[in-house]
Amino acid sequence: MDMKERIQEKFRTLYGTDGQLFASAGRINLIGEHTDYNGGYVFPGAIDCGIVAEIKLNGTSKVHAYSLDYDEYVEFGLEESDKPSQSWASYIFGVCRETIKRGGKVEGFNTVFAGDVPLGAGLSSSAALESTFAFAINYLFDNGIDKFELAKIGQSTEHNYCGVKCGIMDQFASVFGKKGSLIRLNCKTLEYKYFPFNPEGYKLVLIDSCVKHELASSAYNKRRASCENAAAAIRKNHPEVEFLSDAKRVWLDEVRDQIPEEDFLRAEYVIGEVQRVLDVCDALERGDYETVGEMMYQTHFGLSRLYEVSCEELDFLNKLARKYDVTGSRVMGGGFGGCTINLVKDELYEGFISAAVDQFTEKFGHAPKIYNVVISDGARLLQ
Ligand code: GLA
Repeated sequence: MDMKERIQEKFRTLYGTDGQLFASAGRINLIGEHTDYNGGYVFPGAIDCGIVAEIKLNGTSKVHAYSLDYDEYVEFGLEESDKPSQSWASYIFGVCRETIKRGGKVEGFNTVFAGDVPLGAGLSSSAALESTFAFAINYLFDNGIDKFELAKIGQSTEHNYCGVKCGIMDQFASVFGKKGSLIRLNCKTLEYKYFPFNPEGYKLVLIDSCVKHELASSAYNKRRASCENAAAAIRKNHPEVEFLSDAKRVWLDEVRDQIPEEDFLRAEYVIGEVQRVLDVCDALERGDYETVGEMMYQTHFGLSRLYEVSCEELDFLNKLARKYDVTGSRVMGGGFGGCTINLVKDELYEGFISAAVDQFTEKFGHAPKIYNVVISDGARLLQ
Protein backbone atom coordinates (compact mmCIF):
# COMPACT_ATOMS: atom_id res chain seq x y z
CA MET A 1 0.00 0.00 0.00
CA ASP A 2 1.37 3.42 -0.76
CA MET A 3 1.26 6.32 1.68
CA LYS A 4 -1.99 7.70 0.25
CA GLU A 5 -3.78 4.37 0.55
CA ARG A 6 -2.60 3.84 4.11
CA ILE A 7 -3.92 7.29 5.02
CA GLN A 8 -7.28 6.58 3.37
CA GLU A 9 -7.65 3.23 5.10
CA LYS A 10 -6.87 4.71 8.51
CA PHE A 11 -9.19 7.65 7.94
CA ARG A 12 -12.09 5.32 7.13
CA THR A 13 -11.38 3.14 10.16
CA LEU A 14 -11.13 6.09 12.55
CA TYR A 15 -13.89 8.33 11.26
CA GLY A 16 -16.12 6.05 9.16
CA THR A 17 -16.14 8.34 6.10
CA ASP A 18 -13.83 9.70 3.41
CA GLY A 19 -12.31 13.18 3.31
CA GLN A 20 -10.32 15.17 0.77
CA LEU A 21 -6.62 14.71 0.19
CA PHE A 22 -4.10 17.56 0.29
CA ALA A 23 -0.35 17.54 -0.11
CA SER A 24 2.69 19.70 0.14
CA ALA A 25 6.42 19.28 -0.27
CA GLY A 26 9.80 19.52 1.42
CA ARG A 27 12.42 21.69 -0.26
CA ILE A 28 15.99 21.97 -1.38
CA ASN A 29 17.88 25.23 -1.76
CA LEU A 30 20.52 25.57 -4.46
CA ILE A 31 22.09 28.64 -2.88
CA GLY A 32 21.17 31.55 -0.57
CA GLU A 33 21.41 30.18 2.95
CA HIS A 34 20.55 32.23 6.05
CA THR A 35 19.77 35.14 3.77
CA ASP A 36 15.96 35.00 4.08
CA TYR A 37 15.63 36.62 7.52
CA ASN A 38 18.21 39.18 6.37
CA GLY A 39 16.04 40.40 3.51
CA GLY A 40 18.27 38.76 0.89
CA TYR A 41 17.74 36.28 -1.93
CA VAL A 42 17.10 32.55 -1.70
CA PHE A 43 16.87 30.00 -4.51
CA PRO A 44 14.83 26.99 -3.39
CA GLY A 45 12.57 24.44 -5.07
CA ALA A 46 9.98 21.99 -3.75
CA ILE A 47 10.87 18.28 -3.94
CA ASP A 48 9.14 14.99 -4.60
CA CYS A 49 8.70 14.08 -0.95
CA GLY A 50 6.34 15.78 1.43
CA ILE A 51 3.22 15.45 3.53
CA VAL A 52 -0.17 14.06 2.54
CA ALA A 53 -3.23 14.72 4.72
CA GLU A 54 -6.82 13.59 4.44
CA ILE A 55 -9.24 16.06 6.01
CA LYS A 56 -12.98 16.41 6.54
CA LEU A 57 -14.92 18.94 8.58
CA ASN A 58 -16.54 17.31 11.63
CA GLY A 59 -19.13 19.89 12.71
CA THR A 60 -17.57 20.37 16.17
CA SER A 61 -15.12 22.93 17.55
CA LYS A 62 -12.35 20.36 17.91
CA VAL A 63 -9.62 19.02 15.69
CA HIS A 64 -9.18 15.24 15.74
CA ALA A 65 -5.75 14.42 14.34
CA TYR A 66 -3.91 11.19 13.76
CA SER A 67 -0.26 10.95 12.74
CA LEU A 68 0.42 7.69 10.91
CA ASP A 69 4.17 8.08 11.31
CA TYR A 70 3.99 8.50 15.08
CA ASP A 71 0.95 6.20 15.41
CA GLU A 72 -0.57 8.80 17.70
CA TYR A 73 -4.03 10.36 18.03
CA VAL A 74 -4.64 13.82 19.51
CA GLU A 75 -7.68 16.05 20.02
CA PHE A 76 -7.46 19.77 20.59
CA GLY A 77 -9.69 22.84 20.64
CA LEU A 78 -9.06 26.04 18.70
CA GLU A 79 -8.56 28.52 21.54
CA GLU A 80 -5.07 29.85 22.33
CA SER A 81 -5.06 27.87 25.59
CA ASP A 82 -5.73 24.56 23.81
CA LYS A 83 -2.18 23.99 22.52
CA PRO A 84 -1.44 20.25 22.41
CA SER A 85 1.77 18.95 23.99
CA GLN A 86 2.83 16.72 21.07
CA SER A 87 5.16 18.68 18.85
CA TRP A 88 3.71 17.33 15.57
CA ALA A 89 0.23 18.43 16.68
CA SER A 90 1.42 21.89 17.70
CA TYR A 91 2.28 22.59 14.04
CA ILE A 92 -1.32 21.89 13.01
CA PHE A 93 -2.64 23.84 16.00
CA GLY A 94 -0.33 26.77 15.15
CA VAL A 95 -1.59 26.87 11.58
CA CYS A 96 -5.21 26.95 12.83
CA ARG A 97 -4.43 29.76 15.26
CA GLU A 98 -2.48 31.82 12.74
CA THR A 99 -5.33 31.46 10.26
CA ILE A 100 -7.82 32.65 12.89
CA LYS A 101 -5.54 35.60 13.77
CA ARG A 102 -5.72 36.67 10.13
CA GLY A 103 -9.51 36.71 10.23
CA GLY A 104 -9.93 33.29 8.62
CA LYS A 105 -12.60 30.84 9.65
CA VAL A 106 -11.50 27.56 11.23
CA GLU A 107 -13.81 24.98 12.80
CA GLY A 108 -13.34 21.39 13.87
CA PHE A 109 -12.07 18.79 11.41
CA ASN A 110 -10.87 15.20 11.32
CA THR A 111 -7.51 14.39 9.80
CA VAL A 112 -5.02 11.60 9.20
CA PHE A 113 -1.63 12.48 7.75
CA ALA A 114 1.76 10.99 6.94
CA GLY A 115 5.00 12.12 5.34
CA ASP A 116 8.06 10.88 3.52
CA VAL A 117 10.41 13.83 4.09
CA PRO A 118 13.37 12.46 6.04
CA LEU A 119 13.24 14.06 9.50
CA GLY A 120 16.16 16.20 10.67
CA ALA A 121 17.78 16.16 7.25
CA GLY A 122 17.25 19.88 6.62
CA LEU A 123 14.57 19.26 3.99
CA SER A 124 11.85 21.15 5.86
CA SER A 125 9.43 18.45 6.86
CA SER A 126 7.87 20.99 9.22
CA ALA A 127 7.25 23.53 6.43
CA ALA A 128 5.64 20.74 4.40
CA LEU A 129 3.31 19.98 7.31
CA GLU A 130 2.44 23.64 7.87
CA SER A 131 1.85 24.33 4.19
CA THR A 132 -0.36 21.29 3.73
CA PHE A 133 -2.67 22.41 6.53
CA ALA A 134 -2.48 26.14 5.72
CA PHE A 135 -3.50 25.35 2.14
CA ALA A 136 -6.18 22.82 3.11
CA ILE A 137 -7.81 25.01 5.76
CA ASN A 138 -7.88 27.95 3.38
CA TYR A 139 -9.53 25.75 0.76
CA LEU A 140 -12.03 23.99 3.03
CA PHE A 141 -13.26 27.17 4.75
CA ASP A 142 -13.04 29.23 1.60
CA ASN A 143 -11.03 31.91 3.41
CA GLY A 144 -9.53 33.48 0.30
CA ILE A 145 -6.12 34.00 1.90
CA ASP A 146 -3.43 34.58 -0.74
CA LYS A 147 -0.47 32.26 -1.25
CA PHE A 148 2.12 34.52 0.37
CA GLU A 149 -0.03 34.82 3.45
CA LEU A 150 -0.35 31.02 3.54
CA ALA A 151 3.45 30.79 3.61
CA LYS A 152 3.52 33.41 6.38
CA ILE A 153 0.99 31.39 8.38
CA GLY A 154 3.53 28.56 8.38
CA GLN A 155 6.39 30.90 9.30
CA SER A 156 4.41 32.48 12.17
CA THR A 157 3.56 28.98 13.39
CA GLU A 158 7.31 28.33 13.74
CA HIS A 159 7.83 31.65 15.52
CA ASN A 160 4.88 31.54 17.87
CA TYR A 161 4.27 27.85 18.54
CA CYS A 162 7.55 26.04 17.81
CA GLY A 163 10.27 28.44 19.01
CA VAL A 164 12.21 28.92 15.75
CA LYS A 165 12.62 32.44 14.43
CA CYS A 166 12.93 31.19 10.85
CA GLY A 167 12.75 33.17 7.64
CA ILE A 168 10.19 32.66 4.87
CA MET A 169 12.17 30.40 2.52
CA ASP A 170 10.93 26.95 3.50
CA GLN A 171 7.23 27.78 3.62
CA PHE A 172 7.53 29.86 0.45
CA ALA A 173 9.10 26.94 -1.45
CA SER A 174 6.57 24.52 -0.06
CA VAL A 175 3.61 26.69 -1.15
CA PHE A 176 4.96 28.09 -4.46
CA GLY A 177 6.97 25.07 -5.65
CA LYS A 178 6.61 24.17 -9.32
CA LYS A 179 7.71 21.01 -11.09
CA GLY A 180 11.07 21.41 -12.82
CA SER A 181 11.73 24.96 -11.55
CA LEU A 182 13.75 26.61 -8.84
CA ILE A 183 12.43 29.93 -7.56
CA ARG A 184 14.52 32.96 -6.80
CA LEU A 185 12.82 34.98 -4.09
CA ASN A 186 13.78 38.44 -2.93
CA CYS A 187 12.84 38.08 0.74
CA LYS A 188 12.58 41.84 1.23
CA THR A 189 10.27 42.78 -1.65
CA LEU A 190 8.80 39.26 -2.06
CA GLU A 191 9.36 39.45 -5.82
CA TYR A 192 10.06 36.02 -7.25
CA LYS A 193 11.02 34.39 -10.51
CA TYR A 194 10.87 30.77 -11.65
CA PHE A 195 14.03 29.36 -13.26
CA PRO A 196 13.63 26.06 -15.15
CA PHE A 197 16.28 23.77 -13.69
CA ASN A 198 17.37 20.78 -15.71
CA PRO A 199 21.16 20.70 -15.72
CA GLU A 200 21.85 18.33 -18.59
CA GLY A 201 24.80 16.08 -17.87
CA TYR A 202 24.63 16.67 -14.11
CA LYS A 203 22.82 15.17 -11.14
CA LEU A 204 21.70 16.96 -8.02
CA VAL A 205 22.17 14.64 -5.06
CA LEU A 206 21.84 15.08 -1.31
CA ILE A 207 24.04 13.25 1.15
CA ASP A 208 22.52 13.06 4.61
CA SER A 209 25.09 12.93 7.40
CA CYS A 210 22.27 11.67 9.68
CA VAL A 211 23.65 14.03 12.31
CA LYS A 212 21.16 16.11 14.23
CA HIS A 213 22.21 18.66 16.80
CA GLU A 214 19.98 19.12 19.79
CA LEU A 215 20.50 22.84 20.22
CA ALA A 216 19.97 23.73 16.57
CA SER A 217 16.99 26.02 17.12
CA SER A 218 18.62 28.15 19.83
CA ALA A 219 21.85 28.34 17.77
CA TYR A 220 19.73 29.37 14.77
CA ASN A 221 18.02 32.13 16.75
CA LYS A 222 21.43 33.31 17.96
CA ARG A 223 22.69 33.64 14.36
CA ARG A 224 19.67 35.74 13.56
CA ALA A 225 20.30 38.00 16.55
CA SER A 226 23.94 38.52 15.46
CA CYS A 227 22.79 39.63 12.01
CA GLU A 228 20.25 42.04 13.47
CA ASN A 229 22.91 43.48 15.74
CA ALA A 230 25.30 44.05 12.83
CA ALA A 231 22.52 45.63 10.75
CA ALA A 232 21.59 47.96 13.63
CA ALA A 233 25.21 49.17 13.92
CA ILE A 234 25.47 49.82 10.18
CA ARG A 235 22.10 51.59 10.18
CA LYS A 236 23.48 54.32 12.45
CA ASN A 237 25.74 55.44 9.59
CA HIS A 238 23.43 54.40 6.74
CA PRO A 239 19.78 54.80 7.71
CA GLU A 240 18.64 53.20 4.45
CA VAL A 241 19.77 49.81 5.76
CA GLU A 242 16.55 48.09 6.73
CA PHE A 243 17.98 44.56 6.57
CA LEU A 244 21.57 43.34 6.61
CA SER A 245 21.24 42.47 2.91
CA ASP A 246 20.95 46.21 2.14
CA ALA A 247 24.46 46.81 3.46
CA LYS A 248 27.59 47.14 1.35
CA ARG A 249 30.64 45.23 2.46
CA VAL A 250 32.58 48.46 3.16
CA TRP A 251 29.78 49.65 5.45
CA LEU A 252 30.28 46.54 7.54
CA ASP A 253 33.99 47.28 7.78
CA GLU A 254 33.16 50.74 9.19
CA VAL A 255 31.52 49.18 12.26
CA ARG A 256 33.98 46.34 12.82
CA ASP A 257 35.18 47.82 16.14
CA GLN A 258 31.66 48.46 17.38
CA ILE A 259 30.28 44.92 17.23
CA PRO A 260 31.50 41.57 18.57
CA GLU A 261 33.88 39.79 16.16
CA GLU A 262 31.39 36.94 15.97
CA ASP A 263 28.65 39.23 14.67
CA PHE A 264 31.08 40.70 12.15
CA LEU A 265 31.88 37.26 10.74
CA ARG A 266 28.19 36.32 10.51
CA ALA A 267 27.45 39.53 8.63
CA GLU A 268 30.44 39.09 6.35
CA TYR A 269 29.05 35.72 5.28
CA VAL A 270 25.51 37.05 4.68
CA ILE A 271 26.61 39.99 2.54
CA GLY A 272 28.69 37.65 0.36
CA GLU A 273 25.92 35.08 0.10
CA VAL A 274 23.31 37.55 -1.14
CA GLN A 275 25.57 38.38 -4.09
CA ARG A 276 26.30 34.71 -4.77
CA VAL A 277 22.62 33.98 -5.38
CA LEU A 278 22.52 36.61 -8.12
CA ASP A 279 25.76 35.29 -9.61
CA VAL A 280 24.40 31.74 -9.64
CA CYS A 281 21.19 32.83 -11.40
CA ASP A 282 23.23 34.63 -14.07
CA ALA A 283 25.48 31.59 -14.50
CA LEU A 284 22.47 29.29 -14.81
CA GLU A 285 21.03 31.43 -17.60
CA ARG A 286 24.32 30.99 -19.46
CA GLY A 287 24.34 27.24 -18.72
CA ASP A 288 27.60 27.79 -16.85
CA TYR A 289 27.44 25.05 -14.21
CA GLU A 290 31.11 25.36 -13.29
CA THR A 291 30.44 28.82 -11.86
CA VAL A 292 27.30 27.58 -10.11
CA GLY A 293 29.39 24.85 -8.48
CA GLU A 294 32.21 27.17 -7.49
CA MET A 295 29.73 29.45 -5.73
CA MET A 296 28.36 26.45 -3.84
CA TYR A 297 31.86 25.71 -2.52
CA GLN A 298 32.25 29.35 -1.51
CA THR A 299 28.95 29.14 0.36
CA HIS A 300 30.15 26.05 2.17
CA PHE A 301 33.32 27.81 3.23
CA GLY A 302 31.28 30.74 4.56
CA LEU A 303 28.76 28.56 6.37
CA SER A 304 31.55 26.54 7.93
CA ARG A 305 34.10 29.21 8.89
CA LEU A 306 32.18 32.47 9.18
CA TYR A 307 28.62 31.47 10.01
CA GLU A 308 29.71 28.35 11.88
CA VAL A 309 26.69 26.18 11.17
CA SER A 310 28.56 23.22 9.66
CA CYS A 311 29.99 20.27 11.57
CA GLU A 312 32.81 17.75 11.20
CA GLU A 313 30.70 15.27 9.22
CA LEU A 314 29.49 17.88 6.71
CA ASP A 315 32.97 19.38 6.28
CA PHE A 316 34.24 15.87 5.61
CA LEU A 317 31.64 15.32 2.87
CA ASN A 318 32.44 18.69 1.35
CA LYS A 319 36.18 17.95 1.22
CA LEU A 320 35.50 14.57 -0.32
CA ALA A 321 33.40 16.21 -3.02
CA ARG A 322 36.34 18.47 -3.95
CA LYS A 323 38.64 15.49 -4.05
CA TYR A 324 36.32 13.64 -6.45
CA ASP A 325 35.93 16.66 -8.76
CA VAL A 326 32.29 17.21 -7.88
CA THR A 327 31.20 20.46 -9.54
CA GLY A 328 29.56 22.00 -6.45
CA SER A 329 28.92 20.95 -2.87
CA ARG A 330 27.82 22.61 0.34
CA VAL A 331 25.89 22.17 3.55
CA MET A 332 22.20 22.86 2.89
CA GLY A 333 19.45 24.40 5.02
CA GLY A 334 19.83 25.69 8.56
CA GLY A 335 22.90 23.53 9.22
CA PHE A 336 24.08 21.93 12.48
CA GLY A 337 23.78 18.53 10.78
CA GLY A 338 21.56 17.36 7.94
CA CYS A 339 22.65 17.16 4.30
CA THR A 340 25.12 18.42 1.77
CA ILE A 341 23.72 19.28 -1.65
CA ASN A 342 25.97 18.23 -4.55
CA LEU A 343 26.00 19.05 -8.23
CA VAL A 344 27.82 16.12 -9.85
CA LYS A 345 28.65 15.33 -13.47
CA ASP A 346 26.83 12.17 -14.60
CA GLU A 347 30.04 10.29 -15.30
CA LEU A 348 31.47 11.04 -11.84
CA TYR A 349 28.29 10.22 -9.92
CA GLU A 350 28.76 6.50 -9.20
CA GLY A 351 32.37 6.83 -8.15
CA PHE A 352 31.69 9.79 -5.87
CA ILE A 353 28.68 8.26 -4.15
CA SER A 354 30.33 4.95 -3.43
CA ALA A 355 33.47 6.71 -2.13
CA ALA A 356 31.33 9.00 0.04
CA VAL A 357 29.38 6.11 1.54
CA ASP A 358 32.47 3.97 2.20
CA GLN A 359 34.74 6.67 3.56
CA PHE A 360 32.07 8.36 5.65
CA THR A 361 31.02 5.05 7.18
CA GLU A 362 34.60 4.15 7.95
CA LYS A 363 35.26 7.48 9.65
CA PHE A 364 32.03 8.05 11.56
CA GLY A 365 30.75 4.53 12.16
CA HIS A 366 27.39 5.02 10.44
CA ALA A 367 26.39 5.24 6.79
CA PRO A 368 25.14 8.48 5.25
CA LYS A 369 21.89 8.38 3.28
CA ILE A 370 21.67 9.34 -0.38
CA TYR A 371 18.65 11.19 -1.79
CA ASN A 372 18.13 11.86 -5.49
CA VAL A 373 15.52 14.57 -5.47
CA VAL A 374 13.19 15.70 -8.25
CA ILE A 375 12.02 19.32 -8.30
CA SER A 376 8.24 19.10 -7.91
CA ASP A 377 4.99 20.91 -7.14
CA GLY A 378 4.18 22.53 -3.79
CA ALA A 379 0.90 22.72 -1.83
CA ARG A 380 -2.11 21.32 -3.67
CA LEU A 381 -5.40 19.46 -3.57
CA LEU A 382 -4.80 15.86 -4.61
CA GLN A 383 -8.19 14.75 -5.86
C1 GLA B 1 16.00 27.02 7.97
C2 GLA B 1 14.96 28.13 8.09
C3 GLA B 1 14.92 29.00 6.83
C4 GLA B 1 16.31 29.47 6.43
C5 GLA B 1 17.29 28.31 6.43
C6 GLA B 1 18.72 28.75 6.20
O1 GLA B 1 15.62 26.10 6.98
O2 GLA B 1 13.70 27.59 8.34
O3 GLA B 1 14.05 30.10 7.03
O4 GLA B 1 16.74 30.51 7.26
O5 GLA B 1 17.27 27.57 7.65
O6 GLA B 1 18.84 29.28 4.94
